[in-house]
Amino acid sequence: MQETLTGQSRLSRGRQLYDDLATQLASLLEGESDFVANAANMAALVYHGLPALNWAGFYFARGGALVLGPFQGKPACVRIAWGQGVCGTAAARGESVVVSDVHDFPGHIACDPDSRSELVVPLISDGAVLGVLDLDSPIPGRFDDEDRGGCERLVAILVEHQRRYSAGFSL
Ligand code: SME
Repeated sequence: MQETLTGQSRLSRGRQLYDDLATQLASLLEGESDFVANAANMAALVYHGLPALNWAGFYFARGGALVLGPFQGKPACVRIAWGQGVCGTAAARGESVVVSDVHDFPGHIACDPDSRSELVVPLISDGAVLGVLDLDSPIPGRFDDEDRGGCERLVAILVEHQRRYSAGFSL
């Protein structure tokens, strides 16, 4: 019989998964101050740790635009204007954006035509948007509130870690 997940069991699976990823991320960051190295390892952890992704990585705020940072997946657009696409929208709003079907999001930037849904979480420190974490999936509706909350928690771990080091967010 085909397995069907109730809302509750799907939620608890998601919570356990993000608990595990949070523990692994803290362990990966431990003792390392370099922001690029830490962001690169986080992109790899998320890409391989979450099911059904075709891209996971960062764009960093540089001179009023977003510029490609460490990622896993196919080569992607290098520069995104502030306020443009899903990434630029999340950066301009300073809040996470979940897009169930990218075809329904006006201005979506299609780096990989396989991408059908997207979750973008901003990196915010002292009120400033430093960049975004961007996740793409080939499955429509891949991301829900559990993913948004879980990825916000992972991003907060990275941001808090960098704040504690003198190297901070220098690239
Ligand atoms: N789809 C994004 C662009 C970045 S790629 O997905 C890696 C956007 O609309 O901002």
